[in-house]
Amino acid sequence: MTGTDIGATVMAATDIDVVPSTRFADDDRLTWRFLMRVFVTGASGWIGSAVVPELIGSGHQVIGLARSDASAAALTAAGAEVQRGGLDDLDILGSAAAASDGVIHLAFKHDLAFTGDFEGAANADRLAIEALGEALVGSDRPFLIASGTLGLAPGRVATERDMPDLDAATTLFTGGPAIRARNAQMTLELASRGVRSSVVRLPPTNHGEGDNGFMATLVAIARDKGVSGYIGDGTNRWPAVHRLDSARLFRLAVETAPAGSALHAVADEGVAIRDIAEVIGRHLDIPVLSISPEDAGEHFTWLAGFLGSDSPASSALTRALLAWEPTHLGLIDDLDQGHYFHTPAP
Ligand SMILES: NC(=O)c1ccc[n+]([C@@H]2O[C@H](COP(=O)([O-])OP(=O)(O)OC[C@H]3O[C@@H](n4cnc5c(N)ncnc54)[C@H](OP(=O)(O)O)[C@@H]3O)[C@@H](O)[C@H]2O)c1
Repeated sequence: MTGTDIGATVMAATDIDVVPSTRFADDDRLTWRFLMRVFVTGASGWIGSAVVPELIGSGHQVIGLARSDASAAALTAAGAEVQRGGLDDLDILGSAAAASDGVIHLAFKHDLAFTGDFEGAANADRLAIEALGEALVGSDRPFLIASGTLGLAPGRVATERDMPDLDAATTLFTGGPAIRARNAQMTLELASRGVRSSVVRLPPTNHGEGDNGFMATLVAIARDKGVSGYIGDGTNRWPAVHRLDSARLFRLAVETAPAGSALHAVADEGVAIRDIAEVIGRHLDIPVLSISPEDAGEHFTWLAGFLGSDSPASSALTRALLAWEPTHLGLIDDLDQGHYFHTPAP
């Protein structure tokens, strides 16, 4: 497997402008690594707070962007240096990127996106990516951003070679999601300007204890309605990954992914939404019911469009390219651990 197989340009290790190198034990193998100072935006978030210890545990230094005292304190406690600033502080993003050996961009204005201004959040993301990317042009340094697998190839298993069809009449690639898809394309194109850029496509659920994302929302809706629902016959599928496995992929990618790589952080290729609903129904002891597509918007609110998508995805090319193998629980087994069903605080 070469980088070319997933549309990337192969880069030799000697092209990476990072010293010193050292040896680390990794899964019983001894491998060479270039130790880096990695600038991480969103380092205090759900995925970032797994990526930071993954990087530090492998000998890298982390400089995390923090917009608040609370986020700064969390990063310091995790052993990272703090760069104070927000996503709109483009000068700060550029100078921190220029002073780093590589960048992982995970920050996203979810607060804005999920309160009605997804386009505003996606546009802020574009400006941040431009600022970070421009600072790295000509450096051959790594630049990773998070993207998504949802809607890539509706109805069939998406691979790393698939690109979002922005002309398709799907509701997933209009407005903010379309802008985010273009942001990912823009990141990949930086490969032709001397940036070792990669896009890590995440499945809709990066599950694990403490998750506050789509799975937790689905559980909250089921609890609220007294019904664990799925749309139609519920055979549509979502891929999934444990967040500790996706964190490991980010680390492997910043170390060695070839320029222009689209990578899939996918462990479960496709879990039927009905199977998810059944576990939730069993744990909450409530009925599991089909919700008609016509009623899905009322029942699931903003989640309906995502939940109805049949978007399985493969990670075969990513696994072969980076020797990444997920080792943590799959989605159904993780749900069955019970931590999603602890009674929320009043
Ligand atoms: N979680 C998933 O399952 C999933 C699935 C697909 C794609 N993704 C994508 O993966 C990336 C990381 O997701 P996540 O789940 O870790 O998100 P998250 O838990 O919501 O974390 C978001 C991060 O962005 C930071 N942030 C938000 N607005 C900011 C601003 N204005 N200035 C500076 N920092 C700001 C937050 O800082 P504070 O700590 O200060 O709030 C936090 O560190 C995002 O691009 C997301 O869309 C996630």
